[in-house]
Amino acid sequence: MGLFSRWLSDYADHEALLRCSQPMGDVFLGADETGPVYAFAAGIGITPGLALARTLSVDGTGRTVHIDWSARSHDDFESAYELEALSLGRFVSWTRRCTSTDGRLDAATLAERYPYQEGALAFVCGPDAYMERVREWLVAAGWPAGSVRVEVFSSNVDVDGHVGREDRAEREVVDLTDAEVVPYDSFALDLRPDRPVLREAEIFLAQMYRELGLSSVLEGRLAEVRAEIAETGTYVQTADELSYGARLAWRNSSRCIGRFFWNHLQVRDMRHLETEEEMFEAIVDHMRLATNEGDLVSTLTVFRPGEPTIRLWNGQLVRYAGYRQPDGKVIGDPANCELTERIQALGWKAPGGRFDVLPLVLQIGDRAPKYFEIPPDAVMEVEIEHPDLPWFAELGLRWYVLPAVSELVLDSGGVQYRCVPFNGFYMVTEIGARNFSDESRYDLLPVIADKMGLDRRTTATLWKDRALVELNVAVMHSFQKKKVRMQDHHAMSTYFEKFEEQETACKRPVYADWSWLVPPMSGSTSSIFLRDDLQNVVLKPMYAYQKKAWEEDRDPDHEGPVPPCPYHRRRAHG
Ligand code: ARG
Repeated sequence: MGLFSRWLSDYADHEALLRCSQPMGDVFLGADETGPVYAFAAGIGITPGLALARTLSVDGTGRTVHIDWSARSHDDFESAYELEALSLGRFVSWTRRCTSTDGRLDAATLAERYPYQEGALAFVCGPDAYMERVREWLVAAGWPAGSVRVEVFSSNVDVDGHVGREDRAEREVVDLTDAEVVPYDSFALDLRPDRPVLREAEIFLAQMYRELGLSSVLEGRLAEVRAEIAETGTYVQTADELSYGARLAWRNSSRCIGRFFWNHLQVRDMRHLETEEEMFEAIVDHMRLATNEGDLVSTLTVFRPGEPTIRLWNGQLVRYAGYRQPDGKVIGDPANCELTERIQALGWKAPGGRFDVLPLVLQIGDRAPKYFEIPPDAVMEVEIEHPDLPWFAELGLRWYVLPAVSELVLDSGGVQYRCVPFNGFYMVTEIGARNFSDESRYDLLPVIADKMGLDRRTTATLWKDRALVELNVAVMHSFQKKKVRMQDHHAMSTYFEKFEEQETACKRPVYADWSWLVPPMSGSTSSIFLRDDLQNVVLKPMYAYQKKAWEEDRDPDHEGPVPPCPYHRRRAHG
């Protein structure tokens, strides 16, 4: 999200002239500063630490640098080999902290390992929250404030290069005026661009750049976008605009209980891909990266907007086939019968089981749809067993770990991205209290109740409720046993409260769809249950419904997107 990276990726080409200047900000080591140096780095924030290590290892001043480097996984230590080599000398040493296994740096460890020594300097570089934390902890551990230097990534740099924390643009509270609000009705959840592209772009860009404390670049960017829209009718969003728009759309999803994590969405820009084959590969990569061996990463992959329209037929990247039998019963997931039949019609040979992963179908414009089998090792699944009911495993139930919705359109800043598969992680009740238990899905409550020996002749035995609890216990237990990220509905209700607190602190309203947020079992045990103040208003950027891909009007003479029939606009929760 930095100014320079944005410029580099969007504008720099072989004709650009680069001028290298003295470092700015306070991350600068003076020649007269001879005390020991410590660099605290998170992830890619290693850059200044590495520069310090390279310099001090050879500059002959005898100064030492110790680097404390945190990153999520072992693969994230990009330049580790160089640090290893530099630390063979006398002046450089470093600590590797792999946060997924070692845990994060904390105040106590920091105070113990890095007591202040006379003349010492600390350089901190990483995400804002990391820098803020480490700075506070160092000061609490007795480091003088002046000895802690924090990287400045985005600032008001004037023509003379003056910059500093005080000058740093404040992250502004963005007033969400009426212009940005789509009044709520279920219609509002369908793709329906209702303002001119330019207006949508202006509202979005202002919100984004102000929220990020980058007001200084807003005017310039708006001028570019206005010119581009005047000429072409639309504009190409920068990678950062795309990425922030996707995050805002999550933050605005009033039906999502998991929005606490909105700012951590990883966006993969795949707008350059052209063929179905390339896109399929990018999707398989998405599945592997996001699954991350069970330590799920919220990820979104975005393909090119505009014409010819790119669509995925599948509602989610992983879906189990549903086979309608002559007697009306279904083998597999009844939610996917129509999709299954359509894929079979394309020539797919169905195995006919209860948990067959459907191929992915990609379609570009009016070309024939193409289907692709997902490599089995890209689909992680969990076999369901119960911690104390041994017969449970014999039911042969399983579910995939990656809930990756792929039928929604991302409507952001006046651009509609029609193919944007995205995933978070599962809340247990989505599987236990809906997919496995709805009568219109796997309908397993009667089966489980019978195994439990419950009396099903009357609802008054609460057999459904008792079976439901054990089913959810089994799902949660099985995911935990396989170390797959999942949360229960109680924890998620608490995360939702935290999300509201966070938003309120930023003076932003939180809109929510109560009927979607109250968990589908034990509703009254959730703090959301008693809320009668939640308002459902839809803000843009947003994820919206769109026509089923196979119902899309592909006649180029027709003008697109038509609002759906009002009689079919109610949608099941799920
Ligand atoms: N409810 C859907 C399912 O059971 C998944 C929707 C997205 N869920 C999520 N946790 N991100 O498959």
